[in-house]
Amino acid sequence: MKVVVTFPIPDVAKQMISEQAVLQCWESEESIPTSTLIDWATDADAILTTLTCSIDSELLAHAQQLKVISTVSVGVDHIDVDAAAEHGVIVGHTPGVLTDSTADLTLALMLGVGRRVAEGDALIRSGAWSDGWKPNLLLGTDLSGATVGLIGLGPIGQAVATRLKGFGCRVLASNRTLRSVEGIELVDRDILLSTADIVSLHTALTPETSGMIGRRELALMQDGAMLINTARGALVDEAALVAEIKSGRLRAGLDVYAEEPLPLASELRELPGCVLLPHVGSATERTRRAMFELALANLFAGLQGRDLPARLGAA
Ligand code: DGY
Repeated sequence: MKVVVTFPIPDVAKQMISEQAVLQCWESEESIPTSTLIDWATDADAILTTLTCSIDSELLAHAQQLKVISTVSVGVDHIDVDAAAEHGVIVGHTPGVLTDSTADLTLALMLGVGRRVAEGDALIRSGAWSDGWKPNLLLGTDLSGATVGLIGLGPIGQAVATRLKGFGCRVLASNRTLRSVEGIELVDRDILLSTADIVSLHTALTPETSGMIGRRELALMQDGAMLINTARGALVDEAALVAEIKSGRLRAGLDVYAEEPLPLASELRELPGCVLLPHVGSATERTRRAMFELALANLFAGLQGRDLPARLGAA
């Protein structure tokens, strides 16, 4: 059997894989070139990968022996899951273990934008804070008591809601499937957009959700409202968002972008009124370890023909 790993992994993991299969591991921090991955995948039984590596129908057509793809991510938008199913390839991912870290970071962005944390930090570092406390210095908005609208009420959305209750927030949510959760008001998406002080995205990126927050949806948001995105950049029409932030009407806290890394030419980088993070929602030591361990468990289960601990689409 052969396992392809598309990113550098610790020696101990290499050892574990090598005990069961021939290992072919991409050792560079640069992404594996598509042509190399296709070549390696030709006789692979399993692929261990991350969200930066696209696994499309072309690759799957070449990988005739492939049984399992295990991704170190909860999101699977980098994998053509329909083509995988057509080829009888099982997909494993890492739900659950990153819920708390991602929810924590969502709150960090809400507070960071509302209380202008990055601007305050920059003010001091630049030496421009020269006259001490001032009554109107960096006035922001409170998270306490705010109305927050969650689009998507899966585990991460619910974990965000739990945290927001501690801030005395009114929590609204819109979800594809009606999911009643105590203390959360389920509302129509347009009502949520036009009512909330803060709109936060917690839905998977699929062909149906791609671009779901476009010019029309942004225009529905209240003046001064904030968009938080720790899910996927392509959920939002980034150009329309830039226009709204540029005009000073909306603010944003973003951890994810339509194109990652965020291109140097992106106007977002120049705009006050937004806090930008480099896709670090799950980036704590504990969570990343848990994600990697779950992905390895998925990989081994797939290789051995057992049920995956976290198979995509399993109930
Ligand atoms: C995921 O797992 O999908 C996150 O975006 C990165 O941890």
